Amino acid sequence: MSSVTLEKAERVATLFSSCIKGMMLYPPAHPSVLQPLREAASQCAEILFKQTEFKVGLVDDTFFFEEHLFTTPSAPVAELAQLIRNRGVDGFTFLKGLTQQELARFFAIMVRKSSGNAANAEELRREGVEHIVPSGKEGEEPPKENAKGALGMYGEALDAVEGVFREIENGRIPDCGKIITVVEEMVSSAIRDTPTLLGLSMIKDYDNYTYNHSVNVGILAMALGASLGFGKEELKDLGVAGMLHDIGKTRVAKEILNKPGKLTAAEMEEIKRHAEFGAEIIKEMPGVNPALSDAVLGHHIQHDRKGYPEWGRQRSFGIITDILAVADAYDALTTLRVYQRPYTPKAAIDRLRQLSGTTFDGRMVEKFVEMMGTYPVGTMVRLDTNEVAVVVRPNPADREAPAVRIIMDAAGELLPEPRVEQLKTADGEYYARIVAVFEPVVRSPEDAVRFLS
Ligand SMILES: [Fe+2]
Ligand SMILES: [Fe+2]
Repeated sequence: MSSVTLEKAERVATLFSSCIKGMMLYPPAHPSVLQPLREAASQCAEILFKQTEFKVGLVDDTFFFEEHLFTTPSAPVAELAQLIRNRGVDGFTFLKGLTQQELARFFAIMVRKSSGNAANAEELRREGVEHIVPSGKEGEEPPKENAKGALGMYGEALDAVEGVFREIENGRIPDCGKIITVVEEMVSSAIRDTPTLLGLSMIKDYDNYTYNHSVNVGILAMALGASLGFGKEELKDLGVAGMLHDIGKTRVAKEILNKPGKLTAAEMEEIKRHAEFGAEIIKEMPGVNPALSDAVLGHHIQHDRKGYPEWGRQRSFGIITDILAVADAYDALTTLRVYQRPYTPKAAIDRLRQLSGTTFDGRMVEKFVEMMGTYPVGTMVRLDTNEVAVVVRPNPADREAPAVRIIMDAAGELLPEPRVEQLKTADGEYYARIVAVFEPVVRSPEDAVRFLS
């Protein structure tokens, strides 16, 4: 029998998961990587003091740590299981003599693209990791999964969207290859780890509103589609439609789009035409599903058909349009604009609820609210401990008690090493309760690195 208790197994697996996740987002020397790494190494050393090896992996696709099976794993454990699955191995054996440096190299390998069992062994050997050995069937191909950091993916999406907008402004209709590639990566992420993807949609870049908004709407639409059980192809369509939903703005005069003051009625009408311009552009884009043209045409038509274009009010639009409308409104509401202070994520959810059944399809709003939780990922909150934190993961078992990253202590000092806390643990213990919500704080990718994970 192993000396590892269930509690210990869960702790070590969670630490492994945070180390790998940290490495996807932060440089190796960052405290968010170093802190869990140190603890993981000391926990491993403790186990390997009592026994010569321990095994971690998958059996019948269920995660195990020594003899403990995790049939209902916590989110971090489920993520670790997925990473092992991605590597195409059944698991790893950790041997006596394991060092912290070997563990760090092992986690760095886990972050990289999957490479199959033989390649895993080879990679570990090449990196000088002698005390971790993969176990699995020879020659089995791993699933094609991309373990690129979520932020890298976001940056690529921004570049791709900007590229397409620029081409169209210059009178060319580009193909959408780059957007499609990055959307495909995001689709895997939407299925595997929706909260991380949703966290990215909290990035607000006020200087680059249109591109930033387009990417966010794509992400929100995909996440909502994933929670509705959509398949990969449908999710891809949602992502592309989201990123291109305002592409028609390229044909609206810049002076009108960027006008700081109140718009005249004629200018308002001109802006409204972006929906039909967008539909026209998409129809001509090689490689884009032509059905998305209609979806984009209707993104402001509204569920009660009181929107625009007026000539389209009698037409029927599909579910993609309903999804786009909700995703579009949520991102627009939570972003600071010349004419609007941003709603907090919570206030934006309340606003969507008010408009449910009239402006928006009721079922879509309901699903969206369910997905975002009462305190959506990225919401900045004050706790009754007087600490300030950012929501990083909803808690489906108790919407009032998500997982948060504490960024400021009770005295108002920024923590050099923010830490994640479950506001309510599995055994019902409260760490703290949320007492107030602030404005969104994620204003740049750097903020996302600091506050989200
Ligand atoms: Fe729009
Ligand atoms: Fe929009």
